[in-house]
Amino acid sequence: MSNAQASPPAAPTVEVLKDGFAALVSDIDLRAVANTDLEKDIRALHRDYPVLAFADQRLDAADFMAFARVFGEIEIDAHLTQFADAEVAGIIHLASHDLEGKPDPASADRGSAWHADSTYKADPCAHTLLYALEVPGDGGGTLFADMGRAWDRLPDDIKQRVEGRTARHLFGAGPATGGVIPLRDDQQGLLPAVEHPVVRTDPASGRKSLYVNPLHTVEIVGMARSESDALLARIFDHAVGEDFVYHHHWQVGQLVVWDQRRTIHRGEARYSLGERRHLLRTKIRGAG
Ligand code: SIN
Repeated sequence: MSNAQASPPAAPTVEVLKDGFAALVSDIDLRAVANTDLEKDIRALHRDYPVLAFADQRLDAADFMAFARVFGEIEIDAHLTQFADAEVAGIIHLASHDLEGKPDPASADRGSAWHADSTYKADPCAHTLLYALEVPGDGGGTLFADMGRAWDRLPDDIKQRVEGRTARHLFGAGPATGGVIPLRDDQQGLLPAVEHPVVRTDPASGRKSLYVNPLHTVEIVGMARSESDALLARIFDHAVGEDFVYHHHWQVGQLVVWDQRRTIHRGEARYSLGERRHLLRTKIRGAG
């Protein structure tokens, strides 16, 4: 990672990647954003585009965290210590290889099932940031699904069955298979099951989004388990339809921030471990 001097802010350009959902910002140096007027412009753009990518960055770990704080307070995961950065609190490594450089298939597959981050916590995170240090030529992307648009286009009969209900979430206990490294016993104790509304309303915009995901959502509360399983399966199938999904193909030096309350995501995890993939991740706490 480079420690080159930060340049003065240039005029950023914004390219829409998926209408009302994903955009790419270029001609901006994220090292020069914190504590300037650009902060609020970026937060406003992120409200319009829940998936916001930034091209051509040269960030070290401290720069990454300084930019992350533009979106709020850092969430620290007490249950993910084996992937935590040794020096910078709040940074988690998503890596295809271990520290000795040996391929690590389980780590490379982590995050490959559709999910939103931290929904297994009572106070789930609001945003996540990823920064690409190494990327494979193909198959190492990240897919994001628009849970606001998925709600808008959900058939009315399903809307009526889920609106006003809550769902139970427990780490890795949803219907998805793979994509998660099971917690150790001591880690599991940190994360008892929690409930969240199935449909979330953004207090600022009034927009509704589905807030369930195949990795961590176990069941809809107060519904027969078979009915809940069938309903969630229909919702998940609908939500990851082509119309709602943006597929991000990483370039080294790109940063993506996304809103966990309006999206689900998964790593593509379809590359050869003869290539390396390494991203830094940090999460931003929800408002509580
Ligand atoms: C994640 O779930 O945060 C990982 C996504 C990815 O590896 O692309």
